Amino acid sequence: MSKKYYIETLGCAMNVRDSEHMIAELSLKEGYEEADSIEDADLILINTCSVREKPVQKLFSEIGQFAKRKKEGAKIGVCGCTASHLGEEIIKRAPSVDFVLGARNVSKITEVLHKPKAVEVDIDYDESGYAFGEFRTSPYKAYINISIGCDKQCSFCIVPHTRGEEISIPAELILQEAKKAAQTGAKEIFLLGQNVNNYGRRFSSDHPKMNFTGLLRAVSEIEQIERIRFTSPHPLHMDDEFLEEFAKNPKICKSMHMPLQSGSTGILKQMKRGYSKEWFLNRAQKLREMVPDVSISTDIIVGFPGESEADFEDTMDVVEKVRFEQIFSFKYSPRPMTPASEYERQVPDEVASKRLKRLQDRHNEMLDEMKVQRLGKIYEVYFEELKPGGMVAGRTDNNWLVKAEGSEELLGKTAKVKIVETSRLGNIGEIVA
Ligand code: 5AD
Ligand code: SF4
Repeated sequence: MSKKYYIETLGCAMNVRDSEHMIAELSLKEGYEEADSIEDADLILINTCSVREKPVQKLFSEIGQFAKRKKEGAKIGVCGCTASHLGEEIIKRAPSVDFVLGARNVSKITEVLHKPKAVEVDIDYDESGYAFGEFRTSPYKAYINISIGCDKQCSFCIVPHTRGEEISIPAELILQEAKKAAQTGAKEIFLLGQNVNNYGRRFSSDHPKMNFTGLLRAVSEIEQIERIRFTSPHPLHMDDEFLEEFAKNPKICKSMHMPLQSGSTGILKQMKRGYSKEWFLNRAQKLREMVPDVSISTDIIVGFPGESEADFEDTMDVVEKVRFEQIFSFKYSPRPMTPASEYERQVPDEVASKRLKRLQDRHNEMLDEMKVQRLGKIYEVYFEELKPGGMVAGRTDNNWLVKAEGSEELLGKTAKVKIVETSRLGNIGEIVA
């Protein structure tokens, strides 16, 4: 009987892809299959995130739970960013853990599996040329890594310490993966990296010159691919060439993530983001002019050390001006090894909470206004998922979630859908063609 894995994936899309890579390795090299439950698994993997403190605190209680529920002899592995960050301390604090595998070492999953108490967390390890086996959670959409690590030194961010320095993955590997995915039914490709539009800055072996715009063009030349998405781009690298390609290439989905972090030029400087409030507004405005239908999403941190009321007002001002379709907002969380955690003038938690609430309340009002504008309009929806009650769900080109009546035969297909009901989070539509 084949062995079974159970995997829990926290954090970002990069972690989702790392989990897929580990599953591919485990099934190709060791014949593993997915378990129905924790109790049924021979191997339990937790793929962790360390970007904020709370999930890290939760990790140890979760390991305790898993250790109680697992069957005799089953192994527990802690992978991902917290694994990179805490390394062997994890096994010291939680002896039921059998191995620790860092976010930049996932290709070694089948090695550590057989080494008792292994800790593989080298952030200088170069996985950029490793050809992972293929495994996709969704048959209709393929995630593809285009770089590993991150060279930016944002002062709040732990990622350079968990994923190491930035190396681009050779374009021929990316294109090979994209072609394979397209041949096996994925019409949508999702390109992933910490800083995608910095692609091509550094390869670990000889490589013809290529930047992100060039990579987008090359991927879009693959015939069966209909939609290309990517995350995350950095506002600093949103040059005109990139915005023009985004606007005119019909295969690139018209949804852009523009992580603002703060609207105050002073705070952006402290964050070491490399752009000002004006640059951000200029890029967002240009994008809205070039692509009137674009959806812009963002990440915002409130309560960064030294953030005054006036700084926060600058953030609110950008929110008013750009009218983001989606905001991921967080209270600043001091992280070990980051310069900002040592800055003076940390903002009291009550102040940060108040600002977060004000931001979210105002944005909810804006979403209520925006949703009305969608009513009655017709969008192309690529259906990817079955939903209860005879429904199927998919996304519009500009990333709105739409549910419509339908069944399996719609999966992997694009249809024209008229929006008949909207809420902040999703839409109900009727298929018109
Ligand atoms: N505190 C709060 N939010 C953070 N992020 C990254 N580091 C921190 C931190 N120390 C947020 C940023 C980033 C998103 C993935 O997480 O907004 O874009
Ligand atoms: Fe979390 Fe960042 Fe690691 Fe993604 S890269 S898992 S967001 S710490």
